[in-house]
Amino acid sequence: MRPRKRVVTSPAGGTILPARKRKPGRPRSRRPSRLPPLPQGRSLVLEGSGATSPRRAEPSATELAAVDLSVDLAPGRGGFRLANPILVASGTFGYGVEYGEVVDVQRLGAVCCKGTTLKPRVGNVTPRVTETPAGMLNSIGLQNPGVDAVVERYAPTWTAWQTSVIVNVAGESIADYVEVCRRLDGVPGVAAIELNISCPNVGKGGLQFAIDAEAAGAVTAAVRRTTDLPLLVKLSPNVADVRPIARAIAAAGADALTAVNTLSGIAVASDRRRPLLGNVFGGLSGPAIKPVALRVVYEVAQVVDIPVVAIGGVTELADVLDFLAVGAVAVQVGTAIFADPTLPVRLIDELAGECLARGLSSYQPLVGTALPPRPDAPSAKGVEYRP
Ligand SMILES: Cc1cc2nc3c(=O)[nH]c(=O)nc-3n(C[C@H](O)[C@H](O)[C@H](O)COP(=O)(O)O)c2cc1C
Repeated sequence: MRPRKRVVTSPAGGTILPARKRKPGRPRSRRPSRLPPLPQGRSLVLEGSGATSPRRAEPSATELAAVDLSVDLAPGRGGFRLANPILVASGTFGYGVEYGEVVDVQRLGAVCCKGTTLKPRVGNVTPRVTETPAGMLNSIGLQNPGVDAVVERYAPTWTAWQTSVIVNVAGESIADYVEVCRRLDGVPGVAAIELNISCPNVGKGGLQFAIDAEAAGAVTAAVRRTTDLPLLVKLSPNVADVRPIARAIAAAGADALTAVNTLSGIAVASDRRRPLLGNVFGGLSGPAIKPVALRVVYEVAQVVDIPVVAIGGVTELADVLDFLAVGAVAVQVGTAIFADPTLPVRLIDELAGECLARGLSSYQPLVGTALPPRPDAPSAKGVEYRP
């Protein structure tokens, strides 16, 4: 086995810095980064969580490779087939190129790059990140060099990759989204688009596209008319009922849904005289949000016919299996990458190993096993727990 290289990653730009040297005599820590405190947070999450199957002998690479992990994220429109269902989430893996020395990027199902806007954005004022119990808050503010620079700097590299790159797109108006997608359309190396609709819609006075079914459907339809690229639309968990929004997006022509983006939160400065983040509000991510993400995927998977890709607090194989069980066909790994960039690739092999241990030649039988068996089950009627 290749030794793991220890790194610390920067949420803002995906820059990789060498990890601090271990002081002589101090025990080696499994997780090099201070962000996030995953092991402590995991213990609560793990209670009652889906266990993995006990292993016998370690399967060989050939045995693992024989398991069919491929997934189609646009089965309704010509197909968007990935080699496996483990993707990396937008904003947590830069543009992929930054990780070449520490991760075999080519093995990933796909890379979702940092949110891309029409014009360059410097992002929010600092501080922009802080730890939370079992997660982190970020208010990076979509720092990115703008779509033209992204295409010029990164697409030539992506073209040579066997891993698909999904460009995450953000904007403040439908016209913004349409123009960014028009500029990405047909660019070699850009395999698909993921719409980040958790942005203020200036046309609607700052209301997020993601919290309004009509606005979410309208932006999806407009982008759909602009490009034939596979189109994924990312749901926000910051809504009372996500199902009408998911339905509107699917009806507007999205090929797949991704769920979820971060949960809105704040932290307080240590002197208790102001909120901690420069932007006041931040997005909560990491294991803390997994139950919410599970609930959203569970609800959405029952009301749309397009594939659902789960995101939220994945730190180990059991999380992947949980998300598959509630109807996701693939998962994205986000915050956990800051602590261990090698995790996503390891999960690919672990998922294949899990299939072998269960005597499966593909992971498909693991999808949807925890969904209600009957069409009239409570969650499909909308009577589930609502605080
Ligand atoms: C530092 C940081 C930056 C992010 N930037 C984006 C972004 O640009 N676009 C987007 O759609 N989601 C962005 N996200 C949200 C993640 O893609 C993901 O949906 C969320 O973090 C939940 O997954 P996790 O718990 O595995 O991190 C960002 C998350 C973090 C932590």
